[in-house]
Amino acid sequence: MTPDPQSLGERAAAMIAELGAISAEPGRLVRLFLTPEHRRAADLVANWMREAGLTVSEDALGTVRGRLGEGRRLLIGSHIDTVIDAGKYDGPLGVVAGILAAGALANAGRPLAIDVLAFGDEEGSRFPATFSSSSACAGVFDRATLPLADRDGVTLADALTRYGKKAAGIADAAYRPADVAGYVEIHIEQGPRLEAEGKPLGVVTGIVGQTRLRVIVTGEAGHAGTVPMRLRRDALAGAVEIAQALERIAAEHPEDDMVGTIGRIDAQPGAVNIIPGQVSFTIDLRSLTDRLRLDAVARFQAEARRIAAARKLEVAFDPFHEIATAAMAPKLQDTLAASVAALGHEPMRLASGAGHDAQVMTRLCPSAMLFVRCRGGISHNPAEFCSVADMGLAIAALIDFIERFKP
Ligand code: HGY
Ligand code: MN
Ligand code: MN
Repeated sequence: MTPDPQSLGERAAAMIAELGAISAEPGRLVRLFLTPEHRRAADLVANWMREAGLTVSEDALGTVRGRLGEGRRLLIGSHIDTVIDAGKYDGPLGVVAGILAAGALANAGRPLAIDVLAFGDEEGSRFPATFSSSSACAGVFDRATLPLADRDGVTLADALTRYGKKAAGIADAAYRPADVAGYVEIHIEQGPRLEAEGKPLGVVTGIVGQTRLRVIVTGEAGHAGTVPMRLRRDALAGAVEIAQALERIAAEHPEDDMVGTIGRIDAQPGAVNIIPGQVSFTIDLRSLTDRLRLDAVARFQAEARRIAAARKLEVAFDPFHEIATAAMAPKLQDTLAASVAALGHEPMRLASGAGHDAQVMTRLCPSAMLFVRCRGGISHNPAEFCSVADMGLAIAALIDFIERFKP
């Protein structure tokens, strides 16, 4: 007999609260890849896995793996790293749900083969790369990311060594496709649609493709008091005009869920009385159709060059992340929808504007995601919230999915 949704939700809430207290900073949630906080969170998750009856291991990218049973298996996972000043559900809900579902079925003596996976790098908050850990599991890890450095100049390779891992072991982290029957991820929606429709759960149809690049605008630093406006080569004024071009281009395809964001900007030398000589900022552009996204990126770059030339500035682009739109496996979507319906809820289907590890895992095996309603659709924000009742329903649906799933 599997536990009722309410008790599953209550246990999930307690585990997420405990995990949410592990942060690099006292006043906000920051838990970055391969940091001491990642280590503490991984150890806590490993203990939960053991208590649930899973056999625990950790791969060369720090993914904690909880194994149940032998043979070709279902993978269930999500991430335990966070953005800066994060909410506590984005990622951990999927890991906790996998542990509670696997534990409940192990308790019920079901003969299952499951690996629960806690990935350490979904957000890409520390290094200019992302999905490192799920990429290693999927066998698509990009070794060119190893020399990439964080803001303190520590490379991914060095951080792995300091975390006790060997880059030589990365290839061994890859699952053989023949050993894996599928991947499923439970995740908060991080958007307002389920709440607006009054639905607790939604089945994901596809995940938008993403392009992330850095834009570097170079002008000439100068005295804020003595250089006439008409003689300036102000890198920040140019960057602002280029940023508005991004906003205009990204707003052209709402029907394709296209969005464009400038998340980080840095103006040098950064003094109140110096005209900025160089500005760098990040672009994150997404859309459901890869062709539209790539076309928007090309048009943005052409517009940026035109603006820079008109202002006698230089502009350079440093792309650092590209991932195609990923369709979720139709059969697994239907099985998830049947599990949601079995709980008495109508299974709404929707696309994901957020990136997820499932986007990478779909390159290994058929993959699916179940979205859970979150209050106001708020995420990447400490106000992020998912109710006990909705989490309980999601875990009950996952248990039903596992029992329906035909490897
Ligand atoms: O950026 C994203 O979409 C995800 O939350 N990492
Ligand atoms: Mn996430
Ligand atoms: Mn996130």
